[in-house]
Amino acid sequence: MSLIREEAVERMQRDHQKMIALIERIRTTCTLGHEVTDGCNICPPGQQQLCHGNIEQQIRNFIEVTLKHNLMESLYMEQGVPAAHRAAHNRAHVAIAEQLKSIRVVLAEDGNCILAITGIERVLTTLQDHIASFDEQLEAYLLAPA
Ligand SMILES: [Fe+2]
Ligand SMILES: [Fe+2]
Repeated sequence: MSLIREEAVERMQRDHQKMIALIERIRTTCTLGHEVTDGCNICPPGQQQLCHGNIEQQIRNFIEVTLKHNLMESLYMEQGVPAAHRAAHNRAHVAIAEQLKSIRVVLAEDGNCILAITGIERVLTTLQDHIASFDEQLEAYLLAPA
């Protein structure tokens, strides 16, 4: 087991914690909760403006961090990982990218932060499933004796 592979696993895990923390911060930025059907209109315009800028920036940052992370994992898969896992894992990363893209579209088109937060919550579920179904397996390959 090489040190570089151990470092790769540590980096993956650190990123996962960071990504989940970013989602948590996005969710708590809006204190109304997404059950508010009127969306952002319930807040005074000044508050809306402040909130939108803040949430939009956080979501863009989260998307960037997630795409970079998935790319990093794909690079880790290039050596010593069975082709079947690599193909399935990369397909799953593409599905996450699609989900993130639709959140971006929602934000750009109607600026509805509550819809975007709902999308981010769905990503949290996807990410948690993804870690359990793919990333833990990748970590095991990386830590397996060569
Ligand atoms: Fe991951
Ligand atoms: Fe992954």
